[in-house]
Amino acid sequence: MSGRKKILVTGGAGFIGSHVVRIFVQDKAYHITNLDKLTYAGNLENLKDIENESNYEFVRGDICDTQLVNKLFESNNFDGVVHLAAESHVDRSITNPLEFVQTNVIGTLTLLEAAKKNWQGEKKKLFYHISTDEVYGSLGEEGLFTEDTSYDPKSPYSASKASSDHFVRAYGNTYKLPFVVSNCSNNYGPNHFPEKLIPLLINNIKNKKNLPIYGEGVNVRDWLYVEDHAEAIKLIFEKGKIGDTYNIGGFNEWRNIDLVELLCDIMDRKLGNEKGSSRKLIAFVKDRAGHDLRYAIDATKLSDELGWKPSVTFEEGLEKTVDWYMDNEEWLKDVTSGEYMNYYNEHYASS
Ligand code: NAD
Ligand code: TYD
Repeated sequence: MSGRKKILVTGGAGFIGSHVVRIFVQDKAYHITNLDKLTYAGNLENLKDIENESNYEFVRGDICDTQLVNKLFESNNFDGVVHLAAESHVDRSITNPLEFVQTNVIGTLTLLEAAKKNWQGEKKKLFYHISTDEVYGSLGEEGLFTEDTSYDPKSPYSASKASSDHFVRAYGNTYKLPFVVSNCSNNYGPNHFPEKLIPLLINNIKNKKNLPIYGEGVNVRDWLYVEDHAEAIKLIFEKGKIGDTYNIGGFNEWRNIDLVELLCDIMDRKLGNEKGSSRKLIAFVKDRAGHDLRYAIDATKLSDELGWKPSVTFEEGLEKTVDWYMDNEEWLKDVTSGEYMNYYNEHYASS
């Protein structure tokens, strides 16, 4: 193991984290410790293919557990942290904001404190905080979020992520903790928990269930394939400028209704359905409270300074995603049993 860079990845059993863990573990220059609490969103099946690699270790635990986090820092002498663990679903943050403050804010502070204490001002360490474009608030018809856009979070989820971003930068300023932050647009792809729009639609189309679209379906999201996000994270970890922020996105804006229709058509083709049959499942339901109208990322800095660009178009990424969900019936069945159906029935009951 000697000579390998030791990285603590948090939330590595989740959607984005599992892709991040995989690409770091594939690079034998690294040793990865994955700290994950395995909430409903965490799943070790996401990492089955790399779980026995010699440069990978899984630790089940909570990022808010000061003792555990300190013990991990003391025994591993980490060179860096890639921090993804979070509560990540806006709808859940509306019903249970305190859980989001606990993990997203207190959890981040727990990690920052451990890094401050154990790294003692060492300049070669790096605390990398993975964040969202939702901290910038909601756009009107025009404009893009840049790294200089003022924070204006509007949901309990984005407020908790904004708070954690601020704490990371405050530790950089006050204690000279070396850090970098990236703010990414909406991800999609394999391992995405089916409470989020795209995998929820895929699952419902498969099961011929209604496709619940909030409000009139005119809200706009900017979609990026998850593996492209993971590649960007590795690049920023290795080449990003200390103390900087990088926006990550693929210049790929879609109104929800247009995205749903595209996905319906792809699924009809894959399932051998008559063209147009899945579109009949679209159901406009009660809008999300405080629903942000539009997100759109300007990722020029990342491409100009670090040479990153997405590897797939949206159509290619969606095809790969649909294929993955079709090939992974068991995974889908697994994660949608138990707690998930309670959430689903409660959440969509009033619609
Ligand atoms: P996810 O909900 O799929 O996974 C979160 C992971 O964190 C899970 O494995 C869960 O078990 C773990 N976790 C939760 N609370 C924990 C705790 N207290 N201690 C340890 N582990 C805990 O989330 P995701 O979509 O993969 O998002 C990962 C990160 O990326 C988050 O910080 C999120 O804010 C950010 N992000 C997500 C998106 C997106 O589109 N999903 C976009 C931009 C940024
Ligand atoms: P989501 O996947 O929850 O991501 P976020 O809220 O972080 O952007 O939602 C994406 C968009 O889809 C958002 O505008 C809300 C909308 N949406 C629906 O219309 N119906 C649904 O059932 C869900 C979960 C989301």
